[in-house]
Amino acid sequence: MSGLTVPNAIDALWVNVNLATMTDAAPYGAVEDGALVVAGGKIAWVGERSALPSEMESRAARVWDGEGGWITPGLVDCHTHLVYAGTRAREFELRLQGATYEEIARQGGGILSTVSATRQADEEELLRQSTQRLLSLLDQGVTTLEIKSGYGLERDTELRMLRVARRLAEAFPVTVCATFLGAHALPREFEGRADDYIAFLCNDLIPEVAAQGLAEAVDAFCDTIGFTPDQTERVFQAAKRHGLRVKLHAEQLSDQGGAALAAKYGALSVDHLEHLSDAGVQVIAESGTVAVLLPGAYYFLGETKHPPVASLRRAGVPMAVATDCNPGTSPAVSLLLMLNMACTLFRLTPEEALAGVTRHGARALGLHDRIGTLEAGKDADFVVWAISEPAELAYALGANPCRHVVRHGQVVRSGHKTRPMGDSKH
Ligand code: NIG
Ligand code: FE
Repeated sequence: MSGLTVPNAIDALWVNVNLATMTDAAPYGAVEDGALVVAGGKIAWVGERSALPSEMESRAARVWDGEGGWITPGLVDCHTHLVYAGTRAREFELRLQGATYEEIARQGGGILSTVSATRQADEEELLRQSTQRLLSLLDQGVTTLEIKSGYGLERDTELRMLRVARRLAEAFPVTVCATFLGAHALPREFEGRADDYIAFLCNDLIPEVAAQGLAEAVDAFCDTIGFTPDQTERVFQAAKRHGLRVKLHAEQLSDQGGAALAAKYGALSVDHLEHLSDAGVQVIAESGTVAVLLPGAYYFLGETKHPPVASLRRAGVPMAVATDCNPGTSPAVSLLLMLNMACTLFRLTPEEALAGVTRHGARALGLHDRIGTLEAGKDADFVVWAISEPAELAYALGANPCRHVVRHGQVVRSGHKTRPMGDSKH
């Protein structure tokens, strides 16, 4: 460890713990019997306990016992629509009776029914309903998430949703990336005038969102019941003019070539991708765009065509996994459950799934320099789990082995979990 500078103030040392650092050293970047040192909200040192510099130990203000569990990076949920009002349980019943998601949308239900509920909810009500979902994610070790607007489709409600996303970040120990999704569906007021709505977004709302600093990125729904590639491109151009990154709901219900279009604009991610073509895989592989897989939506809509995981893997495309938490296609408030679904439904390995909610999830938000792996210099955002091996996180269905959540070095949640799935070592 030559050249190591030991900070004067060491806030915490974590020992008696294994580390899934999630660097690309397979498997899991694992370090058994590790140690992790926190100083000034950052990871100051991470490695084998036996290699821990003695000054790190002697200067630690507090030593934490990981009780033989595992530490992973704080989980990243890189695609959610967490802020909305109401539910769509009735639509779920209709779909079970045979109506499809597209049919319901074309009859004015679907996204537009959540738009009505969200327009009616004031900011406090929206905050209250959204908080409940957020708490469920935080309980399972999420320390960073993305939140989209897109259930207002008019100025005031879109801005209100984005303000609620910012308020959640102030009220809870979580990093929130906000995304403007005005191009989610065509509001009734613009029926038959989709181009006018797109012009309104590009000329009025995107500039205002950017000027108020209410979003980091712009998203759109490019599909037969969403917007055309042309309209999507105009949205991307406006985003670019105003210094916002782009991402896209692409190839969810049909292949529109959306992923390749987004890649051309340097998209952070393209999301869903069930209908992504081989040509699309090549384009996003070259642009370094992250493929975000959303097994909750695939499952909940009863889809049968799954994203081309084998091709994405072969092409070296980073694959993230997220909840897509939303009232219509994925009312999911458990990122751990998505790990399981990514494996069982999409055939990711448990290691790929965990990378999808850490390293690659961070990249999908452009935050990979700060979070997503356990490495010196990164934010001290991590989770201590009561598990015997990292694959348990993807293996268990409905368990929550989260023992401590640490954000910016502070323990922000603690449960007294025993190993819910048993302990293979005893
Ligand atoms: O990610 N596909 C478009 N948007 C959401 C669904 C929104 C809704 O149905 O409320 C999605 O699946
Ligand atoms: Fe979505």
